[in-house]
Amino acid sequence: MNIFAIETSCDETSAAIVKDGIDVQSLTISSQIKIHSEFFGVVPELASRAHTENINWVLGETIKKAGFTFKDFEKKIDAVAWTAGPGLAGALLVGAVAAKSLASVFKKPSVSVNHLEGHLYSAFINQDDQDGGKKNIKIKFPFLGMIISGGHTEMIAVEDFGKYKILGQTRDDAAGEAFDKAAKMLGLFYPGGPIIDKKAQKGRADYIFFTRPYLKDSYDFSFSGIKTALLNYLKKNPLKNEKELNNICASFRQAIAETLCFKAFKAAKDYKIKNIALGGGVCANSLIRKMFLETAAKNNIKVFMPNLLYSADNAAMIGSAAYYKIKKIGFCKDSITMSPNLKLESWSNK
Ligand code: KG4
Ligand code: ZN
Repeated sequence: MNIFAIETSCDETSAAIVKDGIDVQSLTISSQIKIHSEFFGVVPELASRAHTENINWVLGETIKKAGFTFKDFEKKIDAVAWTAGPGLAGALLVGAVAAKSLASVFKKPSVSVNHLEGHLYSAFINQDDQDGGKKNIKIKFPFLGMIISGGHTEMIAVEDFGKYKILGQTRDDAAGEAFDKAAKMLGLFYPGGPIIDKKAQKGRADYIFFTRPYLKDSYDFSFSGIKTALLNYLKKNPLKNEKELNNICASFRQAIAETLCFKAFKAAKDYKIKNIALGGGVCANSLIRKMFLETAAKNNIKVFMPNLLYSADNAAMIGSAAYYKIKKIGFCKDSITMSPNLKLESWSNK
């Protein structure tokens, strides 16, 4: 089954064609980072406008990359999917209208997808292997899903596709948001995660000990304390030079990575779960990837991570999640659905 998927929940206008949930035939991601970086975060009005301007090009480019034209859409595509939420209302609407228009013009069934489920199943997508081929990834249920992005930090026990028990979530800032805010304090740019990660590779992680918010007896997260600790540190110790900046980035990254890793493996142990799947922009972090893999090896647990291309926001993960949803509960009959505060919920047939 070939699904044409659209993702516009935040600041990436993206479309993809995904075969049977795992095989990405074509993917286009048009990033708005340049527009938002001077504001140190995403400006909703500018995001909606940029999606409106970009969407037609992104749709056309995705079809072109797959080697056909709009004339063949009806023949080549079986269904259309779009991100219904959570996200920015105006931004989501652009993708929903585009998807529903395609579905209507080409008489295709359609399905709306929760953005978080896109991240949750992104590690299932085929990955590039060293010989230039594709590697099929098999993740067994139950697995522990860790969604770590700019807007979310959620830990979920996934018993089957669409069957969830939410174990913990952030009580304040998401992990990516903490990186972004720290970058702003340090005079760096948006998005802060990749820049802090890069500078951290040249610094000493034991330079400052930032508090690890373990929140005893809970699987929830809280990252605002680490951020405030950084703010207080900088007030007392204004930045001296590049070397110190690298050391602070390394110490900050270490605190976030250790917190995420500690919580995930504690939950996996408590719930006797042997597989962990990461998803979301923050799982591109080089230390987080390394720490999860090393801790997994010591604890006889398997860790799965999406290709870097599928970790941040992209439409391939939406096409993938849509496939599992269609297989399990069929197509949705809703019209143009978008829901900025959509929560992660188990699927039901109603
Ligand atoms: O999943 P995503 O593209 O969008 C949301 O759904 O939020 O995640 C974006 C977030 C940003 O906060 C960005 O700073 C963070 O992912 N990020 C990283 C890295 N690359 C992106 N955080 C830490 N280390 C990275 N290498
Ligand atoms: Zn996301």
